Amino acid sequence: MKTILVTGANRGIGLAFVRLLARYEPTPAFIFATCRSPDTAKELQDLAATHTHVRILKIDVQNESTYGPAVEAVSSLVGENGLNVLINNAGVFPKDGYEKVTREYLTSIFEINIIGPIRITQAFLPLLKRGARNSKIERFSIERAAVINMASKMGSISLNTSGGAAGSRESKAALNMFTRSLSIELKTDKILVVSQCPGWVSTLNGGPDAPKTPEISVSEMLQIFALYSEEHTGCYLDNQIPLTFSQY
Ligand SMILES: NC(=O)c1ccc[n+]([C@@H]2O[C@H](COP(=O)([O-])OP(=O)(O)OC[C@H]3O[C@@H](n4cnc5c(N)ncnc54)[C@H](OP(=O)(O)O)[C@@H]3O)[C@@H](O)[C@H]2O)c1
Repeated sequence: MKTILVTGANRGIGLAFVRLLARYEPTPAFIFATCRSPDTAKELQDLAATHTHVRILKIDVQNESTYGPAVEAVSSLVGENGLNVLINNAGVFPKDGYEKVTREYLTSIFEINIIGPIRITQAFLPLLKRGARNSKIERFSIERAAVINMASKMGSISLNTSGGAAGSRESKAALNMFTRSLSIELKTDKILVVSQCPGWVSTLNGGPDAPKTPEISVSEMLQIFALYSEEHTGCYLDNQIPLTFSQY
């Protein structure tokens, strides 16, 4: 995993990814920590000040004009090595029920949780393909190239017994379909595409009662990422070792 890009990296699970990747062994060449407001991302700025391989870039998932400059910045730094791992982490999970939700509310959730990941992946695909092509690793692996979508049990149709969270559940279910379809398109390039559940994590999104800190969740996920292989592409995985396929 030489080069990694994380969206929504200014807080929660995204920030924990950057923190742990900054001291990951072997040291990545670049960790691109993207967020919508780099100027106010104090924790990221502190990390970048002490770890020169952490680069902060602006990506507002809902604003496509921010994608091009980020792709150019990454491309100029990674050169022929391309990008190895894209983590589509930025996401929201508001919990209002069906009686309340408006078109604007639903549109915003879908823009962030599914349209954004699709369009951002599209934007970085040439760099991911370059990463795969120029990697010495022949098998499906995060060392070669991977798109990792932050999934949620709340997006599972078969496990849904409580309803609620209108739009949020549907958008995460759609993310799993994106994972499956993209994995089929990218099979010949041997680029992994996985929906990864981080577990229930104490962030703004997960709430204070969640049993896992972002650091614990991410340290588990980094161990899991290292185990990804061809059988996992297109799948939705729990945050457990041995790797467990979650239910759609
Ligand atoms: N926490 C859990 O228990 C849990 C469980 C299952 C799945 N997940 C998934 O894990 C991912 C990370 O969630 P989290 O728990 O770390 O939540 P969080 O602490 O609320 O962080 C969400 C992140 O997404 C970013 N974001 C939201 N809208 C954005 C936009 N338009 N452009 C760019 N970034 C945007 C936020 O940036 P701002 O600060 O700018 O808003 C923030 O960095 C999400 O996809 C979530 O659905 C979390």
